[in-house]
Amino acid sequence: RSLKKYVDPLPAMPKTYGYAVEDGRPKPIALTVGMYEKKWKFHRDLPVTTVFVYGTSRRAASYPGPAIEALQGVPLNVTWENHLPERHILPWDPTIPAAIPKHGGVPAVVHLHGGVNGPRSDGSAFAWFTSGFREAGPAWSEATYHYPNVQHPGNLWYHDHALGLTRANILAGLVGTYTIRNLPVETPFGLPSGRHFDRHLVISDRSFYEDGSLYMNYTGNVPSVHPEWQPEYFGEVIVVNGKAWPYLAVLRRKYRFRILNSSNARYFNLSLSDGLPFTVIGSDVTYHNKPVTAPSILIAPAEIYDVVIDFAKSETSAVRLTNSAPYPFPGGDPPNMHSSKIMKFVISPKKTADDSRIPAKLVDYPVANVKDAIKKRYIVLYEYQMASGEPTHLYINGKRLEDPATETPRPGSTEVWQVINLTEDNHPLHLHLATFQAARVRGLVALEAFKACMREKNDAVKCDVKKHATGPVTAVPEHERTWKNIVKIAPGSMTTIVVQFKLIDRDEPYPFDATGEPGYVYHCHILDHEDNVMIRPLILKY
Ligand code: C2O
Ligand code: CU
Repeated sequence: RSLKKYVDPLPAMPKTYGYAVEDGRPKPIALTVGMYEKKWKFHRDLPVTTVFVYGTSRRAASYPGPAIEALQGVPLNVTWENHLPERHILPWDPTIPAAIPKHGGVPAVVHLHGGVNGPRSDGSAFAWFTSGFREAGPAWSEATYHYPNVQHPGNLWYHDHALGLTRANILAGLVGTYTIRNLPVETPFGLPSGRHFDRHLVISDRSFYEDGSLYMNYTGNVPSVHPEWQPEYFGEVIVVNGKAWPYLAVLRRKYRFRILNSSNARYFNLSLSDGLPFTVIGSDVTYHNKPVTAPSILIAPAEIYDVVIDFAKSETSAVRLTNSAPYPFPGGDPPNMHSSKIMKFVISPKKTADDSRIPAKLVDYPVANVKDAIKKRYIVLYEYQMASGEPTHLYINGKRLEDPATETPRPGSTEVWQVINLTEDNHPLHLHLATFQAARVRGLVALEAFKACMREKNDAVKCDVKKHATGPVTAVPEHERTWKNIVKIAPGSMTTIVVQFKLIDRDEPYPFDATGEPGYVYHCHILDHEDNVMIRPLILKY
């Protein structure tokens, strides 16, 4: 049975402010945000669904959670509370490294994705806790997280990060947006603003049973190794801001959309059905120096694109936002008649006054330069398979998460990471704390010989990487060229990324101690890969 598309209006998440303005000056407001089990209506014709969601109260909890508003320079304390029930609503797998509480409950911990904060507020996978803090993981240290908001303005999001449960907890609904603004910097841009014209679009794929409950496979692809783990979750229903294939009535003018892909594994290749382009003003947590026009946008899990769409340029009365990305990406099947559709914009007939604009220039952040690096590292992505080709697990550099940290950069420094993808899939690489951009993507030649050597020696230099990394160069699309926290790593390639462990807008070290326990992590943001176990520690050291 398939659900009728474009029957539910696009909701907006409730806004929660981490500051209040008194006598013209912003004062911090501490927030308490809980995780709750709740019923959610994803579609007019679908029975209610049990979800796990964030909220400032049980009543206010929503899918996605509250849209947190912060100001650059105004610190925010958030106490994250776990009110989840005794049992999970989705399958998980105790045979992968996972948080397993002795006394029941659902382990959870919150990470602010894109956040520049101290290691103890970063939401380490080992800092999980259960309802009422009854039990906690070995890295748990504090109930209240401190977000200094020292970084430049942009789009962040918060989501679950519990060890071995991230894919199930996020699938259940534990996601929300977090926006850092700097009004003196951003107001002069003149971009579309206010709750009508500046909106979040949080997109993900889900599947449902007939009774409305969330569907996730209970049987692993190689059950003899991992009884329940599947290498990638794909759903056939596309959900935006908590509604399946919604519509939004828009005026014939410019709108700003902050688009986040919160899917476990699905990439979307976004375009508009009438050929309208996107004007990309930022990606992940960073504005572009200048707006870039793009006819389509490939958005990986956890990636963000901040765009303007000018509906005044449309000659039609309705525009569909569509998807053409194969799944798995890039070698899988094209999306079907359902997953190729995302939402619809219904455009008012008459042109409306529009005093917003797209400025020629936005910010003036430094350009990535490999010559700034004081250190070069090779980061290798591996998949391990059964003889049948079925994947059993994935590692970075052939190492487990528990193995001692090998990436120990100095705060304030710039490094070059050569990321080598020996798998068939594209992987969205994510670093906590740092910001980075792809400088060059090179194909690998004699790939099979290189793979065989790497399987044996696990050492790019000993395997003559310089000889193999001589394939064709693929240009990084202009609209992806800013300081990001997700970079898509193509299969069979070596991607050179320039990584900065400092503030971008002031070119200064972090104004807090980023060293020490439990440190940070970097990982693939396909959640099913991250959980098993494409994730490694990232520990800053002097
Ligand atoms: Cu979006 Cu490690 O996180
Ligand atoms: Cu991956």
